[in-house]
Amino acid sequence: MIKLFILGVFFQVATTLRLLDVQVPTAVNSNDPVWLNCTYDLESDELYSVKWYKNNVEFYRYLPSDDPPAQKYNLLGVYVDLLKSNLGHVFLSRSDLNTDGTYRCEVSAEAPSFQTERAERELRVYVLPKGGPKIRGVKSQYSAGNKVDITCLAAPSKPPAVIKWFVNDEEAPKVYLYQLENIRHKNGLQASQKGLRFTVQPSHLLNRVLKLRCTAVISQAYSMSSEEIIVGNTVRASGLYSSADGPTIDGGLSKYQVGDSVNVNCSSNKSRKPATLTWFINDKKAQSISLMHYPVAEHEDGLKSSILGLHFTVKGHHFHKGEMRLKCTATLSKVINTTSKETVIGGHQQTSGLHIFETSSRNNKNEKSTQYSWRNLFKTVIIFLTLQLYIQ
Ligand SMILES: *[C@@H]1O[C@H](CO)[C@@H](O)[C@H](O)[C@H]1NC(C)=O
Ligand SMILES: *[C@@H]1O[C@H](CO)[C@@H](O)[C@H](O)[C@H]1NC(C)=O
Ligand SMILES: *[C@@H]1O[C@H](CO)[C@@H](O)[C@H](O)[C@H]1NC(C)=O
Ligand SMILES: *[C@@H]1O[C@H](CO)[C@@H](O)[C@H](O)[C@H]1NC(C)=O
Repeated sequence: MIKLFILGVFFQVATTLRLLDVQVPTAVNSNDPVWLNCTYDLESDELYSVKWYKNNVEFYRYLPSDDPPAQKYNLLGVYVDLLKSNLGHVFLSRSDLNTDGTYRCEVSAEAPSFQTERAERELRVYVLPKGGPKIRGVKSQYSAGNKVDITCLAAPSKPPAVIKWFVNDEEAPKVYLYQLENIRHKNGLQASQKGLRFTVQPSHLLNRVLKLRCTAVISQAYSMSSEEIIVGNTVRASGLYSSADGPTIDGGLSKYQVGDSVNVNCSSNKSRKPATLTWFINDKKAQSISLMHYPVAEHEDGLKSSILGLHFTVKGHHFHKGEMRLKCTATLSKVINTTSKETVIGGHQQTSGLHIFETSSRNNKNEKSTQYSWRNLFKTVIIFLTLQLYIQ
């Protein structure tokens, strides 16, 4: 495994200070507290400082020789709790959209080595919607031949939700749908909306009811990066990005020259749903022609891991200042699925044929799976509210 080999070389070349891991959650929900942990091994060195930066701006430092040793600097979105923070751990008491960014830990040793090691991680802040999507513009009564023209409005979230319409539990045909612009809120959140427009047909009233529902699906991506491999006269790890549960790179050589063939694999750590892998050459996404797709590996415990190969011939242009950098990322997503109130129209027909004058309630078979539901009886429209959170 190239990773182990490289680390071996890297640590032998380096003197004593070693940065072992930087733990920053890849994503949190707004308001959540956050731990930023940096673990290092000084061996025979003495610690000079531990400093934390967000997007290259310092917000915390710990210098054992200072009095007091810990200091914080005000930075938008970084809520350091000094009492809970110490040498390797910084506690942010809460988070908001401004907390999103790249966090770097930098550890320096005292004289004589003054050696400094650093590593950074991305932190994404997401905002869950407060409730399910709402259906707007429903009339109290529809007859066959009437036009339904309603919109589904999702609650504001980050990232914005993707809305789907269902007519009688089937996804609505495209011709019924019309796009509406997301509503942008001042706080940075967006509310998606989508219109549904069609003329009520007899076929819509198969069970004498017309059921309308929309779902808002929010897909939050959690990306983890592999160690960045720097290829030059030697192959080494840059020390940036990697995390214990990130993907690993293997199959590499210890040295590459122009004309050599790079043939490496990126493997994701095990997860419930397979991760999506992406290769980067010098921070640019690798072209699909260089990628080798392999089937997802299923483990005995039911967990899965993905493998993506990178195969290309090294050209002069790959080297910038004598170096080429390779890295891969694994992205997992957590899907948050919210469903609107279900609007049920129809049920009890007074006359034969198509005209519906009266409506009554109908139980929706899908109700079994809902966690909770409210029922409100209106004169002609029964509304179910179901809010479901599916976390995959
Ligand atoms: C970070 O450090 C704190 C305090 O020691 C600990 O409670 C927390 O579990 C650590 N987080 C991780 C991800 O290890
Ligand atoms: C998977 O991640 C865990 C930490 O979450 C780590 O201990 C383990 O070594 C990783 N496995 C691989 C194959 O990288
Ligand atoms: C990459 O993984 C695939 C599938 O496991 C394997 O067949 C192939 O030999 C690997 N390639 C390298 C360079 O390790
Ligand atoms: C969301 O939930 C609905 C049913 O409540 C289901 O039909 C749909 O497939 C779900 N979507 C995702 C992405 O899980």
